[in-house]
Amino acid sequence: MLKIDTHAHLLPKDWPNLAEKYGDARFPVIHHAEGRHRIYKDGKFFREIWPNTWDPELRIAEYATFGVSVQVASTVPVMFSYWAKGHQALELHRALNDHLAGLCRAHPKHFAGVGTVPLQSPQLAIQEMERCIDQLGLSGIQIGSHINEWNLDAPELFEFFQAAQDLRAAVLIHPWDMMGTESMPKYWLPWLVGMPAEQSRAACSLIFGGVLERLPKLRVCFAHGGGSFPYTIGRIEHGYRMRPDLVATDNHRNPREYFPRLFFDSCVHDPQALRYLLDVVGPDRVMLGTDYPFPLGEQVPGSGIDALGLDDTARARLFHGAALEWLGLPLARFQS
Ligand code: CO
Repeated sequence: MLKIDTHAHLLPKDWPNLAEKYGDARFPVIHHAEGRHRIYKDGKFFREIWPNTWDPELRIAEYATFGVSVQVASTVPVMFSYWAKGHQALELHRALNDHLAGLCRAHPKHFAGVGTVPLQSPQLAIQEMERCIDQLGLSGIQIGSHINEWNLDAPELFEFFQAAQDLRAAVLIHPWDMMGTESMPKYWLPWLVGMPAEQSRAACSLIFGGVLERLPKLRVCFAHGGGSFPYTIGRIEHGYRMRPDLVATDNHRNPREYFPRLFFDSCVHDPQALRYLLDVVGPDRVMLGTDYPFPLGEQVPGSGIDALGLDDTARARLFHGAALEWLGLPLARFQS
């Protein structure tokens, strides 16, 4: 059965050193030394990466051991650089998109790509998205769960979402710049507590800000199973009913009614949680996503879905049907 991983991070081995070029240590840089590969940001060690972050042959081989043949690659959120001047960040985004597109062209049966854009400058972001879709052949764009001070309902961002709908670009929403980071630095809490909340912030902002209402054909996927959003939908719906003055502003329907238009990846690390996700958002809305190659990702891609013991029709939807619909790609693209 064709298996597509919709949440797989990829970096080039090297990228422009903007920290040096612009004298700003907030730009992430990569150092290769003594056989180790380390990302630095703000002058501090951020994360070690391994050759499976950039080497396509190695990635294809690793995935093959799990029976997964397609990776929908996206950059790592630390690269978003939404805090930077738009034209400076654009240099980084363009380099990442060019690299990703080259890899998709070289391995069309194994890679599809969602690009990245400097959303702090919506007009530059729209131009780069157009280049990604029309010229580079990428399938969509990955964006953060918020953009600096803007949540995803910010009027400044609406034109971007409208352009994504017009271009038929898939949108992958990934948590980043986690809320609460300053107040809960210990125990990896920004990742364990903040990340799920970021996804709910993004979903609630798109719904209550009327973005999904105004753009019915926008194809949005929430990584990490939508974080806490599906799990707290009862509370969110209750809030919508009890305090419409606060909640029901620009949406025109119950938040639950948007589920049939949204996609969610399967990266929830718990079969009960995955079963619940399928129950609440619908069995056709969920697709394989692993967060490869990072430690908080699903270490055996597809094992969470396999654990549910579903029939072949349901498995086909989870392993590729929903992903192809979200990407807007035909099955034939990945068949040999
Ligand atoms: Co991820």
